[in-house]
Amino acid sequence: MNFLLLNGPNLNLLGKREPGIYGSESLDSIEKNLLELSEKEGILLDCFQSNSEGLLVDRIHQSIGKTDAILINAGAYTHTSIALRDALLSADTPYIEIHLSNTHSREGFRHKSLLADKAIGVISGFGPMSYYLAFQGAVDYLRKK
Ligand code: DQA
Repeated sequence: MNFLLLNGPNLNLLGKREPGIYGSESLDSIEKNLLELSEKEGILLDCFQSNSEGLLVDRIHQSIGKTDAILINAGAYTHTSIALRDALLSADTPYIEIHLSNTHSREGFRHKSLLADKAIGVISGFGPMSYYLAFQGAVDYLRKK
């Protein structure tokens, strides 16, 4: 199986960015842990981060037909991007929406997601653990399919 992990804007600054909300772990470290998990599960994991909406759309297009599941923390684009939603629906690949913070306990504009209703599921509020739970959720979902 092949998984694609996508991270959107500002997530390259994890560890330094608002640590009271997002914690002290870097994206590199989260990706390293996920790569270890995927090796154990026999899954090929590709990781991509961009601050650009268009590059994220391009990366989703490139994955068409080559990826069994997408794990996506779209950052602020979660709340705004019809383009990312359309790309995910065009790819027709099962995806899980991830957030480090509990977006529902924060500002009202973070309560809305343009991706959530079409996702397999949404994991929000567990810090880096949100990524590991999403990974396990995707493995479980695909193995039961
Ligand atoms: C986030 C939540 C978003 O609202 C925010 O814009 C982010 C990070 C999270 O992981 O908690 O950039 O996706």
